[in-house]
Amino acid sequence: MGEEIKNSIDTDDVTETLDKCVKYYTLEEITAHNTSKDTWLIIHDKVYDVASFLEEHPGGEEVLLEQAGADATESFEDVGHSIDAREILVQYYIGELSLDDRGKNNSKDVCVTSSGESSSWSTWLIPAIAALAVGLVYRYYMLEHKSS
Ligand code: HEM
Repeated sequence: MGEEIKNSIDTDDVTETLDKCVKYYTLEEITAHNTSKDTWLIIHDKVYDVASFLEEHPGGEEVLLEQAGADATESFEDVGHSIDAREILVQYYIGELSLDDRGKNNSKDVCVTSSGESSSWSTWLIPAIAALAVGLVYRYYMLEHKSS
């Protein structure tokens, strides 16, 4: 294996080597790790082995056990975890959810993107209409003022 990495570096193919090192787990495999001694979680399509973190979790081990072997993305985000919490997460990373098992929640991301676009569109349109209205009122006022 050492030789394989050496060859890859020689050929400047480091990215490909890193990709090969990523382990993909199927939903079926992950679901089996659902006990207090063997606890895996999926958060944002990444797999974490949090068995050794259960007792340290400031929110208690029960909430983690409830999600054991399943996708905890929604509950993790609902709590509004801090940046510190997200940094802790990195220590327990063991791999990625298999590509075939992704996508069940992805429709949500699409919705967020499209609603994001429409909100940016309305952020400039409303001030533009307001500015136009103010301009018209000002003009009307000036004309009135001149004629009297
Ligand atoms: C391995 C993944 C997780 C890590 C590393 C983590 C880490 C943390 C940390 C560091 C805190 C302290 C507050 C903060 O810094 O945000 C916290 C609080 C908390 N977490 Fe987690 N957490 C994880 C997963 C979860 C999940 C899946 C749930 C929900 C089911 C959850 C529920 C809570 C709750 C309820 C609190 C207490 C919030 C409060 O008292 O204000 N956590 N977590």
